[in-house]
Amino acid sequence: EQDQSLSEITSAGSLADLEAIRVRTLGKSGTITALLKTLGGMTPEQRQSEGPKIHALREAVTSAIADRRAALEAAALDARLATETLDMSLGVSGGAQGSVHPVAQVMDELAEIFADLGFAVATGPEIEDDWHNFTALNIPETHPARAMHDTFYFPDRPNEAGEDGKKMLLRTHTSPVQIRTMMSQKPPIRIIAPGRTYRSDSDATHTPMFHQVEGLVIDRGIHMGHLKWTLETFVKAFFERDDIVLRLRPSFFPFTEPSAEVDVGFTWEKGRRVIGGDPNAANGGWMEILGSGMVHPRVIAACGLDPDEWQGFAFGCGIDRLAMLKYGMDDLRAFFDGDLRWLKHYGFAA
Ligand code: PHE
Repeated sequence: EQDQSLSEITSAGSLADLEAIRVRTLGKSGTITALLKTLGGMTPEQRQSEGPKIHALREAVTSAIADRRAALEAAALDARLATETLDMSLGVSGGAQGSVHPVAQVMDELAEIFADLGFAVATGPEIEDDWHNFTALNIPETHPARAMHDTFYFPDRPNEAGEDGKKMLLRTHTSPVQIRTMMSQKPPIRIIAPGRTYRSDSDATHTPMFHQVEGLVIDRGIHMGHLKWTLETFVKAFFERDDIVLRLRPSFFPFTEPSAEVDVGFTWEKGRRVIGGDPNAANGGWMEILGSGMVHPRVIAACGLDPDEWQGFAFGCGIDRLAMLKYGMDDLRAFFDGDLRWLKHYGFAA
């Protein structure tokens, strides 16, 4: 009986056959179950001699079934693995893929262009204090330039006041990074500082949040010629054209002296302004792209440096504007709508 069951088990060809054997032997009315039941009707002596044999039989059959089951399952898995194939070259049906936003793209391009000129990237907080955003930049409390900045202030709660005890604000330009850099690094300094800036303003060309890039050089013997060369080199690299001309117009910023607004020459092509070409031609013109100047001696002094030893230039430029000009977009607000159709239209999303 035992030998026969065991040989049937080891030769069972399928899990179904094996299950049939299990039912026939160990099942409710199986042969081994029946044997176990006979123990109840035996004398103690019989039970002592037969009991261990019957239990051993049950053990042997149970473990033989388990072994055979494992073997059959392993064989079934091997067979599946041998026949099933997964075509790794098959295209997946597309979920949406992320892509780089035009503003981020321009920031990367700027960092790369200025890295070639020896500029590092610096950062500062978007929640700024009054001193870094205004006072240290030679914009005192009563200065009319403060009104022009349409500043978002934080509610005047004592635990939210800056180190200077004044209301905190959202930085209105990236120029406070000039201050933070001059106070934390020794000259010579060459940095750009791209980032978010905020003003309470909104129309087709203004959004309450926008992006600027600040440039700052502090060294000995720096003059306007360095500023002009740097800006020309940057603009030509950014717009990928050599026939670009700049025009520096005298201007005013409290933190630079002298100050210059910089215009770039453009030409109309197929109903679009394209940077480059002859601004004095019939289809040409000038467009303002940034503010700049020589860092005011009072700003240098406010940062603890000696203005007789250190000079420098600075510039500040709207990044969103640069992106619009380079990639031909016409509504600034669309930059921040997160509309994939818009991004796709300009080739920024798959
Ligand atoms: N911070 C100025 C602005 O926001 C731009 C600027 C930066 C001008 C640096 C001169 C020097 O308009």
